[in-house]
Amino acid sequence: MSLRIVVPRELRPSEARVALVPDAVAQLVDEGFSVAVECGAGVRSFADDDAYRANGANVIDERAALLRDADVVLTVRGLGASDDESFMGDVACVRLGAAVVGLLDPYDHEDRVQSMADHGVLAFALERMPRITRAQSMDVLSSMSTITGYQAVLLAARSSPRMFPLMMTAAGTLAAARVLVLGAGVAGLQAIATARRLGAVVQAYDVRPVVREQVESLGATFVSFGGEHSGDTAGGYAIEQSEVFYAREREMLADALCDVDVAITTALVLGRRAPTLITAAAVAGMRPGSVIVDLAAERGGNCELSEPGETVVRHGVSIAAPLDLASSAPVHASQMYARNVSTFLRHIASPDGLTLDADDEIVRETLVTPAALLPEESPADVAPVAGA
Ligand code: NAI
Repeated sequence: MSLRIVVPRELRPSEARVALVPDAVAQLVDEGFSVAVECGAGVRSFADDDAYRANGANVIDERAALLRDADVVLTVRGLGASDDESFMGDVACVRLGAAVVGLLDPYDHEDRVQSMADHGVLAFALERMPRITRAQSMDVLSSMSTITGYQAVLLAARSSPRMFPLMMTAAGTLAAARVLVLGAGVAGLQAIATARRLGAVVQAYDVRPVVREQVESLGATFVSFGGEHSGDTAGGYAIEQSEVFYAREREMLADALCDVDVAITTALVLGRRAPTLITAAAVAGMRPGSVIVDLAAERGGNCELSEPGETVVRHGVSIAAPLDLASSAPVHASQMYARNVSTFLRHIASPDGLTLDADDEIVRETLVTPAALLPEESPADVAPVAGA
């Protein structure tokens, strides 16, 4: 019998993505996998049950039965919703030795990782995908950052009381909006490109001086205070800086923020709380009507006054700290996610079963329950790697 892949409906109210879109199902079925999706799983991504059936999936009504039958459970945000009851209800259904794949947030949910380990479930957290060339096509964080960078600029443009482009009209000249992007990784570069397309004058800053060239090639100016020598990374991630560095950075940014209409912040350090780059005092120094969109909200935020999941107005400045922004473009987000997760699935499984190699870097990094649970090895007393 071929490997059974199941796709449950995402239970979080704010989550509109689905782990596999119908096209991705068709490809996997062609390759010999068996795919079942929960009734209504794709509805919020505009993929109805008939589209899944037409592409070879079984559509199952009862969630518990779906999960019980799985060799691999493909999710966006893991099992259950944000409450422990729905999570534990799902975990109890998944059988020993089955794999659960998704954005499992292992840093903030060590307890959930432990519960899955206790149930003998193999949990793969896609946010831990190593940044190596052969893993690029499985890199969900990069795909979702592309979407959030774009969406952040649209959100800022909608929230701003100004328009973005320079306009010379019979009623006078309207100055172009000035946008500052903090963190020029995948989301930041997409934000720069989008803000430039809308006609804004864009500046950007990153702790890694290596991105200066990419920032400039998009037509933005790289701002600097000359202290970025140690921002180079292990595997593409920024390393945590000293408190002295952060203090100097905040001072430099407070000056730069006095002169902008929009700030978009994307700065993250793997496995850590997001660094505070914009203090309450810096917000107070901004012009009334300015806008901050804080994309680091899921890891606590880059602005001291951000309230994750909310938009607040402080000192006349609108501060949006959206969660699940990728979910606001669910069609493309699901399409990209499905491509990434299908590639990962082929890496860990064939239609005949799981093909896990505990020595493979991709498996080793993403597997957050003990490697001792892998097939052919007896369960041992190994601590989960979450938070490692
Ligand atoms: P990220 O989401 O971890 O961080 C976002 C940005 O914030 C990074 O550019 C980081 O340098 C910056 N940052 C961190 N602390 C900061 C601070 N105190 N001040 C200002 N900026 C700060 O990173 P992301 O966007 O996922 O990727 C960063 C880079 O990694 C990419 O530009 C790319 O070159 C590389 N990458 C490589 C991949 C691969 O080879 N498979 C996959 C994904 C990224």
